[in-house]
Amino acid sequence: MGRERELRQLAAALARPPVVVLIEGEAGVGKTRLLHELTGHPMLSGSCHPMRFPYGPIVEALREARPTEELNPVTGALRPLLPECAHFLPPAPPPPQNAQVERHRLFRAILSLLDSLRPITLVVEDVHWIDQDTRELLAFLARCLPESVNLVLTYRAEDLRHPVGELIAHLPPHIDHAELVLAPLDREETALLAKHLLPGSADLWPLTGGLPLAIEELARMLVEGREPGTPTALRDAVRLKLDALPPAARRIVQAAAMLEQPACVRTLATVAGVPPEQGERGLAEAVRRGLLREWTPGTYGLRQPLTRQAVRESITPMVRRRLTRRIEAPSEPVGVLSPREEQVIGLAADGLTNKEIAESLFLSRRTVEVHVANGLRKLGLTSRRQLNRT
Ligand SMILES: Nc1ncnc2c1ncn2[C@@H]1O[C@H](COP(=O)(O)OP(=O)(O)O)[C@@H](O)[C@H]1O
Ligand SMILES: [Mg+2]
Repeated sequence: MGRERELRQLAAALARPPVVVLIEGEAGVGKTRLLHELTGHPMLSGSCHPMRFPYGPIVEALREARPTEELNPVTGALRPLLPECAHFLPPAPPPPQNAQVERHRLFRAILSLLDSLRPITLVVEDVHWIDQDTRELLAFLARCLPESVNLVLTYRAEDLRHPVGELIAHLPPHIDHAELVLAPLDREETALLAKHLLPGSADLWPLTGGLPLAIEELARMLVEGREPGTPTALRDAVRLKLDALPPAARRIVQAAAMLEQPACVRTLATVAGVPPEQGERGLAEAVRRGLLREWTPGTYGLRQPLTRQAVRESITPMVRRRLTRRIEAPSEPVGVLSPREEQVIGLAADGLTNKEIAESLFLSRRTVEVHVANGLRKLGLTSRRQLNRT
């Protein structure tokens, strides 16, 4: 559904080899599907997995290779990696003198095998899970792509540990590059896909926000007559992401899920029960990992209603009670500082660090931190940097 423009862009890029194409998009948005829909471009495809096996995606891709011409003797170096290809690989070359030489030989063997298959596009999917060896190999391949060989990489920006940009940063001039970002489907495309998947009509836009995977899963639930709940795959993915967050960021996401509307960082931190500075850091982290997004300037909420539902379902009853209590509690009177908070905030406004304040007032660092956090919240501020401006 949709994606005509993206397919055209991808086909146009691949028609000008050698090219490195980056395809970015969140889980379930349709990166793999887009590549499946592309015709007329022979491909070898392998995926990175969370286990990060050395050369995992390359092994997966190359074991499907069916070369028709005689191979360069260097490709014999692939025998240990690809025993399933022993019937067409030349004999293994003599063992090299050291590990770096062996590595270089392996890289050259892969290059040579690709060269013998051209025209060919090597696809490495889910690069956010790339292993160190494949990462170095791709950096090498990208710079040495033979004529009529393309490289396509797909990834989720929010889970990326190493920037993929570095792979296209220093390409020689004859190697082109292209970048494609897949966004969720729009309202109309969502309706068309739902119509295609469901006998009756149902508006799946509000719950799915146009994410094809969510549309499919929700449609399946409806077809099977199940209560439209959170699709299992999505629920598990959200839980894994939540577990991987630092505690303050997790609380911020949970607070956002319990609130009815997107909220500012101050409200999120208050509901989450974390000090403003930690709240800010947590919010930034949750946005970076793709769980929260900015809806209007300065207000943040879950990216998708289904994700919100998944987060809500994952909150334990005790935490849920705490969050709800803070949502329902009348907000503290703004601006009324205790005398101690006045004193601490005054020194913070003068530019003293918590350590210096603690020393000058004979308090513990922890106590000062709490006074600063409470003081800032009461003043409606989110950062001590804002103090000297007030
Ligand atoms: N444009 C689309 N139209 C119809 N179905 C789609 C579309 N994009 C993706 N899908 C379906 O949604 C599911 C998730 O897509 P997939 O390509 O696996 O996502 P990704 O690789 O980005 O995680 C698949 O079942 C796929 O067939
Ligand atoms: Mg995929």
